[in-house]
Amino acid sequence: LCDRALVLKKMPIPLWSYALGDTEKNRLGNAPDSGSVKSQRAVKTPVVSIDPHLPVLLDEVLQVFQPVMNGIIVDGTFGAGGYSKALAAKGAKIIAIDRDGKVKPFANDLKNQFGEMFSFHLGQFSQLDEIVAASGCSFVDGVILDIGVSSMQLDQGERGFSFMRDGPLDMRMGQSGPSAADLVNGLGERELSDLIFAYGEEKRARAIAKAIVDFRRDNLIVTTAQLAKLVEDTIGQKGNSKRMKAGKPVAKKHPATKVFQALRIAVNNELDELVKGLFSAERIVREGGWLGVVTFHSLEDRIVKRFFDANKSSPTLSRHMPQEQKGPQSWSNIGKAKKASTTEIAANPRARSATLRFAQRSASDPRDLSFSGLGVPLSKGVSIAKLEKAGSKSRGAP
Ligand SMILES: C[S@@+](CC[C@H](N)C(=O)[O-])C[C@H]1O[C@@H](n2cnc3c(N)ncnc32)[C@H](O)[C@@H]1O
Repeated sequence: LCDRALVLKKMPIPLWSYALGDTEKNRLGNAPDSGSVKSQRAVKTPVVSIDPHLPVLLDEVLQVFQPVMNGIIVDGTFGAGGYSKALAAKGAKIIAIDRDGKVKPFANDLKNQFGEMFSFHLGQFSQLDEIVAASGCSFVDGVILDIGVSSMQLDQGERGFSFMRDGPLDMRMGQSGPSAADLVNGLGERELSDLIFAYGEEKRARAIAKAIVDFRRDNLIVTTAQLAKLVEDTIGQKGNSKRMKAGKPVAKKHPATKVFQALRIAVNNELDELVKGLFSAERIVREGGWLGVVTFHSLEDRIVKRFFDANKSSPTLSRHMPQEQKGPQSWSNIGKAKKASTTEIAANPRARSATLRFAQRSASDPRDLSFSGLGVPLSKGVSIAKLEKAGSKSRGAP
């Protein structure tokens, strides 16, 4: 895809990275998330039999990247490849990334269609600069991130993402590390409550955490239906049934919506991934290139908004105080957030909560990774180490 002469410094090639169509010797090893790359290529995974994901805000995304359509664009959340396919059809070269090995059949389809113009890498977008460097590129012209789960992940009960479908309480996009069941059965009441409050913004987090801990004295919680029912029995439809917007009743949300969101965020370390992905994109998008991010809930949207807004100078608090200095402006032409049209929402209700934010990379040096000021909620004391410990505890390890 890139002129290899442009590579500025030699980056270690991630073991799990590979380009479809590379020779055997270029496939370097095992994917930590989903088994050996070799075996995944040898065994033809059938395309999942459910409807593939409908890309949201596609026209708006294409508009953002229109100025760089003859360049290289990283699709950091490949999914069913909706964005990759549409961008490649308009001439862009695509470096696609997804942490979920189950999307490979879709990647194979695009490889067949676009050949050398398309490569797929199994990995996390927090490392997208390393993946891009391993592809031989120093800079790219655009990065698009479409945060969250795909319809395929939600619709397959056995992935454990949805309270609408019974299945094992799993939620791991990359199929490794502690599952949602591990957290629900392994964390203490206080930690569970903090996690549900911080990542789900669920006001009744304490009552839910207590109900979980009471329940698991006798039984482990191992299915999505068990957890959904437990939450429903604990908080019912409270606060949910009478909301009105523009004179119409707002569609009821399942009472377990926020708990499932919180667990999914924790299991997949989603907010850390997002922050690291944004800073990673800042390092590899060339001056004049574009970054677009589609988010689906306020926690994520706030992070993206503040990441771009960090360019702006803080308002002067008082006329007696010196004007605060503007920091380096990593991003310019910050676009007004885009939402789906009513037509799109009618065709694809999932688009209702989507927000696209985008901006153009300026000439200034990339900033150092920083979580401060971005509004990342702290789930007190719930670190990856604790989640891993919770995982082994719930599986009966000493
Ligand atoms: C909303 S879907 C993307 C759909 C895609 N835009 C399309 O049009 O088909 C999100 C995808 O991102 C992947 N994903 C989520 N977090 C990720 C991360 N940190 N790194 C890499 N992939 C991630 C998920 O596995 C999922 O396949």
